[in-house]
Amino acid sequence: MEYYDDIVKKRNSCRGFSDRKVEDSVLTELLKYYEEDESNLIDEIDTELKFYIGTVWDELKKSVGYNGFCIKAPAYMVIYSDVADHYLENAGYIAQGLTLRMTELGLAACWQTINDADEAKKALGEDTDKAVACVVAFGYRDPGNKEKPAGKKSLDEMTDGFKFGQDIDTDLFYNDLEDGLRAIAHAQSFQNLQPYRVIVDHDQIALVGLPDDMTSEADRLLNYGIVMFNFYVVMWAVRPDTPRWSFEPVTDRDLCLPADVTYVAKCKL
Ligand SMILES: Cc1cc2nc3c(=O)[nH]c(=O)nc-3n(C[C@H](O)[C@H](O)[C@H](O)COP(=O)(O)O)c2cc1C
Repeated sequence: MEYYDDIVKKRNSCRGFSDRKVEDSVLTELLKYYEEDESNLIDEIDTELKFYIGTVWDELKKSVGYNGFCIKAPAYMVIYSDVADHYLENAGYIAQGLTLRMTELGLAACWQTINDADEAKKALGEDTDKAVACVVAFGYRDPGNKEKPAGKKSLDEMTDGFKFGQDIDTDLFYNDLEDGLRAIAHAQSFQNLQPYRVIVDHDQIALVGLPDDMTSEADRLLNYGIVMFNFYVVMWAVRPDTPRWSFEPVTDRDLCLPADVTYVAKCKL
C-alpha cells in the first residue's frame, strides 16, 4: 500500500539540515493541512500550531532536546494545547500528521523532547494559557547528511494475538491489517525505545504501554499519539470508515495485562 511504503516507512529523523529556507508556500500548505484535515483524537481540546523560522534555537536549546542538545534547524513547529485529559496524546497525534505531511512535501523533521515546557514557552516569547505540547525541528535535509534510518522492532515483537504475550496468528490478521500494524512498528518514539505493544483481536486492536524507566511521562504520551496516528492514517487510506481510537477501557474481555503493563487505548476495526 503506497501510503505506508512512500510516506510512513520513508520518513526518518533528520539531525543535519541544509540552510535552505522553508518557503512561505510550504508553511501555508502545512497550516492548511492542520486547519482542514480531521487529524486529532479529541475534538474538544483546543490547540494552536505555530512556526518559528530561524531565530529561536539559542533560547530553545536551554529547555528542549536530548541531554540539552536541541537540533539546529531552519524552522521549528510547535503545537500549543489546552491542558486536559489526553492532551499530549492528542497533540502527538496532530503533530505526527504534520510530520508525515512534511515528508510528502519533501521536508525532513526531528521531534525534540521538551525538558521544561514553561521555559520553552518563555524561550519562544509566547504569552498564552496553552502549554507547549510538541516541538519538531524541520527543514530540508543536508544532502551530505548520511544519517542511517533507525532500526525498529519487528511486527512480531510489536503484536500479540487476543491477549498480552500470546503469539499472533499472522494468517488470520495480517491480510487486512498488515500495513497499519507495520506503521505502528515503524513509529517514531523517544530514543527509539518503542515501549508499547498492540494486542490484535477480530474486532479491535488495543495499544498497551510497556514498562520503561527512560521515557518521561510526557514523551510516553506523545509516543502513543504518534503510534495512533500512524495506524489511523494507513488504515484510512485502505478503508475510510476506520473508526477512531478511544481511551475507553476494555470491559468485555481480558487482555491479561501484567501489573507493569498499562492499557492505553483501543481502536474498533
Ligand atoms: C517524543 C519524542 C521525543 C524525541 N526527542 C528527540 C530529541 O530531543 N532529539 C533527537 O535528536 N531526537 C528526538 N526524537 C527522535 C527519536 O530519537 C527518533 O524518532 C527515533 O530514534 C526513531 O528514529 P526515526 O525518527 O528516524 O524513525 C524524539 C522522538 C519522540 C517521539
